[in-house]
Amino acid sequence: MCGIVGYIGEKDGMSVVTKGLERLEYRGYDSAGVAFFAEKNAEPCVIKTVGRLQSLKTALRGKKAKEKTAVIGHTRWATHGVPTKQNAHPHIGCKKEIMLVHNGIIENHELLREALVREGHIFRSHTDSEVLVHLIERMLAFGAPSFEDALRQALHHVRGTFGIVALSSRWPSTLVAARRGSPLLVGIGKNGEYIIASDISAIAEHTKRVLYLDDNEMISLSSKGHRVFDIANNTVSKPTTLVDWTIEESQKGGFPHFMLKEIHEIPDVIDNALRGRVLVKENIIKLGGIEAIQKKLASIKRIVIVACGTSYYAGLIGKYLFEEMAALPVEVAYASEFRYAPHVVDKDVLVVAVSQSGETADTLEAVREAKKQGALTIGIVNVVGSSIAREVHAGLYNHAGPEIAVASTKAFVSQIVILSLCAAYMGDIRNMHPKKEREAFLKDLLALSHKCRAVLKESDAVKKIAKKFYTADNFLFLGRRYNWPTALEGSLKLKEISYIHAEGYPAGEIKHGPIALIDASIPTFVVALRDSVYEKTVSAIQEIRARKGPVIVVASAGDALIPTYTKHVISVPQVRESLSPILAVIPLQLFAYYVAVFRGTDVDKPRNLAKSVTVE
Ligand code: G6P
Repeated sequence: MCGIVGYIGEKDGMSVVTKGLERLEYRGYDSAGVAFFAEKNAEPCVIKTVGRLQSLKTALRGKKAKEKTAVIGHTRWATHGVPTKQNAHPHIGCKKEIMLVHNGIIENHELLREALVREGHIFRSHTDSEVLVHLIERMLAFGAPSFEDALRQALHHVRGTFGIVALSSRWPSTLVAARRGSPLLVGIGKNGEYIIASDISAIAEHTKRVLYLDDNEMISLSSKGHRVFDIANNTVSKPTTLVDWTIEESQKGGFPHFMLKEIHEIPDVIDNALRGRVLVKENIIKLGGIEAIQKKLASIKRIVIVACGTSYYAGLIGKYLFEEMAALPVEVAYASEFRYAPHVVDKDVLVVAVSQSGETADTLEAVREAKKQGALTIGIVNVVGSSIAREVHAGLYNHAGPEIAVASTKAFVSQIVILSLCAAYMGDIRNMHPKKEREAFLKDLLALSHKCRAVLKESDAVKKIAKKFYTADNFLFLGRRYNWPTALEGSLKLKEISYIHAEGYPAGEIKHGPIALIDASIPTFVVALRDSVYEKTVSAIQEIRARKGPVIVVASAGDALIPTYTKHVISVPQVRESLSPILAVIPLQLFAYYVAVFRGTDVDKPRNLAKSVTVE
């Protein structure tokens, strides 16, 4: 994610930018920095600190930007390069002339870096973003007629996503910005005042008049006015919009809660997890984070997945994925239990630690125990540079951005996506996939985010069902095979935020006990998609209906049979079975959310729970 702010105008630019960064801290908070021209001379200053914004504010005490010069700032959520002062933004070029902040991922940064280093550029950080600043410098050295043009030409060489704001000591009262895939909007104030930021929350207190940049658009801002143009240098005429949100509303992107916002981020989170890893033309999966241990991975005989909470349920889905795609036996262990199991792994075992925060104490201890027993360890972690990420031998980051709501939603989906990539990759190195099959799988992965958007359109239908059932005291959640863990996750979400007792079961198991509970007062949520276990799951629905139990079903679009058993049906698009939990879990997350809202609980901060549990 990351938050970006840039300011040009008559106010104290430093204070506008740091306040803006404060508003954007929810987008990332592992390090922060600003670039500006100091009061006394025109030399650019770059000040960066590690940790929350407060450290930056302390470092900036007494510092002032020269009147009417531009200021840029950044609050970071690391993707490439651990959170350090060096890796914090803004980045500055070799000649100390160009400064820049970036949100997004430059996919071809390694190649660009090599080429720039060959030309004599000196890099100071390990980030992908730094290539941008050197590229602009290069374009100016090669005769680009203006700052705008230098950035524009630089972007022709770049693959990936970006929201960029750049500053140059040659044009200290001008900001140049560009967008592809990462949000950027411009607040237009009075007397040539502009604030450019990743979202409205950094802008709202200064002006209500905003201009949204679209993909492949750029803007130059100075006290003389602004110009929007595209990467081919065509001028673009852009309307401005009046936005009337409070600061809090704008941080949540207009959603009433972070949880709902994060559920709506799922399509983007999927694309971020796949970016640079699915190479369609070459028909391969490229996992840079575990490439270095590929040889060792090829000789692995067994996998143990360790995790807690929601991440554990993602791990259960991982078990089916690895077994199907890589023909490896998999065990999934609660990290809090695994750590007490001596002699259960050895050098032939791969231990996969799944953790959103990368700080969960039980998972961290499980990794340490696995290493002690000689196992190879990898992490699937969202927070770059976190303890688990540092402890494992190799790993893959989710790139899902900060998850603020305590109940995990987007991170869960991202974990399944990465597990599926990992399983397919393991299958590849074990020569398991014919070319055609690989092609079909990659195509299905790339279609996922679009299908998720279709599921999100069902939100109102889910809300209606939640309204009907929110007073129930108990719930059952059922699913089979890949969607048994989906059911478990659905029941956990409901417990966590609505405090309703809920149990998840494999659909085939209800006849062995839980069916005794069924009557008209206990609703059952069933994931019954048109997959290899469809008929058997439908049998479970029939058994419940025969005992007057209300049933809510997540069904495949176009299913005509399910509506004959219940009118509470939520449809999801057809998708291959191994990827179906990614779509099927969304209605369950939305259901838990709406039930909690109807019950009036504190959705984003449920009682007794913490986002990251760093105690054992
Ligand atoms: C806590 C959170 C859960 C989370 C679990 C594991 O219990 O409340 O939402 O699933 O920790 O967290 P991790 O960061 O390791 O994925």
